[in-house]
Amino acid sequence: MDYGKFIDDQVADLRQTVGDGLAINALSGGVDSSVVTALGHKALGDRLKTVFVDSALMREGEPKRVAKTFAGLGIPVELVDARAEFLSALAGLTDPEEKRNAVTHTFYKTVFGRLVKESGARFLLHGTILTDIEETVAGIKRQHNILSQLGIDPAKAYGYGVLEPLRTLRKDGVRAVAAQLGLPAEITQRIPFPGPALATRIVGEVTEERLKTVRQATAIVEEELASTGAFQYLAVLLNDCATGIRGGKREFGQIIVVRCIESTDARTATVTELDWPTLHRLTQRITAIPGVNRCLYDLTPKPPATVEYV
Ligand code: XMP
Repeated sequence: MDYGKFIDDQVADLRQTVGDGLAINALSGGVDSSVVTALGHKALGDRLKTVFVDSALMREGEPKRVAKTFAGLGIPVELVDARAEFLSALAGLTDPEEKRNAVTHTFYKTVFGRLVKESGARFLLHGTILTDIEETVAGIKRQHNILSQLGIDPAKAYGYGVLEPLRTLRKDGVRAVAAQLGLPAEITQRIPFPGPALATRIVGEVTEERLKTVRQATAIVEEELASTGAFQYLAVLLNDCATGIRGGKREFGQIIVVRCIESTDARTATVTELDWPTLHRLTQRITAIPGVNRCLYDLTPKPPATVEYV
């Protein structure tokens, strides 16, 4: 594929569709939304407003880190603190689809609806890719960022049109476009991270405390497994507890699952054969997190498992 031509075509399309209006987009720092941000700014300049929504579901230090990277590229990013709104929408929910729904609606309706109104934007640019559409249409999973495929008309439901310039690309194509756009390796080579963020890695209720636990585990896993070059690695907090022993006392503790996979586009995946010293180090560090007394390594490929747990 000629990615230079792809970029030119998308830039021309965006200019034509948005006209002299305003557009808005949410940057998560992942390669998809980063490419949309860079494409959008190339096409629309300061007629595109880019926001980073702090949903309370992000990783350690992520909001500030992402804003700083893009400031370095000359693209201003506004941080929006929506933590309380997401946490209250997720309170009490345990069903995976209900949790995904709560994140989608809080994101698109509550937070974005307000931002769009305040900014006067008529379009939202979104980093939906082909795999998201295929899996949603196939009913494998309701992806966070698919609206029209689910029969939701965003203009009617939320008051703005959604533009998806990456809808014909898979992950490898998005990375190629990112490189062509001159985005730095920390973005182009970044491992995938889902839109609903850490909510996909907490089985059961998402609370501030449980987010803190999975966030700490995520930081450890990302640090320990970066050198593997694997497609994706992550930590999941299970809903069950297990009996353990700490400081000579019985403890009914939490369970963290480590997942590390090889894949090219996340449609199928095999499990990385981590060596024992790495697995031991992960176990030691993860069971040092307060309240966590078990660490498991998931050996299941996709299919039958998916990558995320929710
Ligand atoms: P699953 O869990 O469906 O994940 O096997 C496949 C790939 O997609 C990522 N993922 C998402 N990405 N919004 C996204 O932008 C989502 O709702 C979502 N759910 C899963 C996941 O991290 C993996 O790379």
